[in-house]
Amino acid sequence: MSANQTYDVQSIRNEFPILERKVKGKPLVYFDNAATAQKPKQVIDAISHYYSHYNANIHRGLHTLADEATAAFEASRAAVQSFVHAKHHEEIIFTKGTTESINLVANAWGNVFLNAGDEIIISTLEHHANIVPWQMIAEKKGAVIRIIPIDANGKLDIEAFKKMLSNKTKMVAVVHASNALGVINPVEEIIQLAHQHGALSMIDGAQSAVHLDIDVTQLDCDFFVFSGHKIYGPTGVGVLYGKKQLLESMQPYQGGGEMIKEVTFEKTTFNELPFKFEAGTPNIADVIALKPAIDFMNRIGKAFIRQHEAALLSYATEKLKMIEGLHIKGDVAEKVSVASFTIDGIHPQDLAILLDNQGIAVRTGHHCAQPLMSYLGIVGTTRVSFAAYNTKEEIDILVEALNKSIKMLK
Ligand SMILES: Cc1ncc(COP(=O)(O)O)c(C=O)c1O
Repeated sequence: MSANQTYDVQSIRNEFPILERKVKGKPLVYFDNAATAQKPKQVIDAISHYYSHYNANIHRGLHTLADEATAAFEASRAAVQSFVHAKHHEEIIFTKGTTESINLVANAWGNVFLNAGDEIIISTLEHHANIVPWQMIAEKKGAVIRIIPIDANGKLDIEAFKKMLSNKTKMVAVVHASNALGVINPVEEIIQLAHQHGALSMIDGAQSAVHLDIDVTQLDCDFFVFSGHKIYGPTGVGVLYGKKQLLESMQPYQGGGEMIKEVTFEKTTFNELPFKFEAGTPNIADVIALKPAIDFMNRIGKAFIRQHEAALLSYATEKLKMIEGLHIKGDVAEKVSVASFTIDGIHPQDLAILLDNQGIAVRTGHHCAQPLMSYLGIVGTTRVSFAAYNTKEEIDILVEALNKSIKMLK
């Protein structure tokens, strides 16, 4: 889309077959995009095309189908490399998602470099996927986890973070944009501060990769992780970006085929990057179908999508705030398109059921961020999150449905 074109949301919607369906007799209003985005037809077709036309195992085959599958798989790696602006293609490791990418870093890096007394810093905003793997490796190695506090709006306390840093800090692993609140963290500053103290940085980009321009070279982060299914791609594929020298210095995460150079019963030598971290047959079809998802965002233009989503967020925030007893959590300026809220006297789960009856999909609960919820003193929130294909009309439907549901529940 060029700069003087308008954002044609209807033609974007036409690319997503699922948006034609009805739920409980009503047109689907899908506002659970932070959990997983819907898939454009090109992504769905790429999976079917692979299985119908060139299904083969990759990298080792010496036949036409294997060559075609390998070329498509590696084309996807190249697309991801340019999507995040990595210097080298071998810095892109395919995993099954953000969760696996973080577990890979925690283990493959932590097993080599963490020692008793070392410190890992995370934040109060983290998803469980960026808490539990660090707890597990910290317990194994005798390392200590420290938590950056936030204010009541979900903003990180950078001054407190600065005070936490010392020569004991070995890793700073923080979320780029909070899945529960939408708040964007100042990761550039966090990465720089970590480096000034000789620590590494890992950015959880599960929520940011779809909304923000990601330039790992400019950010200078050591690791960056995200999931395919949140960027309009398939489930079961994720990405770990890591600086080449670092990845080379780490242990393999899993052993098996593909990740070896030579195996004897006495000793194994490991393959070069990226294959050292891609043991076994990968999720070939879904990796291949990640490229059309990236192509979709590039064709529309991430900046255009961001503008559209920001307009939706500010419209929704304004309308939601007019509802009596509704409180937006994470009401800050720097946000991705997530509105998370509580309503006095109403349990989020009851609300979700009533909204579903009206064809509206939202997410409720702790959003895999229980420590954050307990810090905020709430059981959970109702979260609406917007994507490229959502519309203001859908927000009007939501607001009307909310008002109706509140009347029924009070
Ligand atoms: C911020 C954040 N980190 C990590 C994850 C885990 O992603 P996945 O379940 O795709 O591995 C999510 C998923 O919601 C998330 O929002």
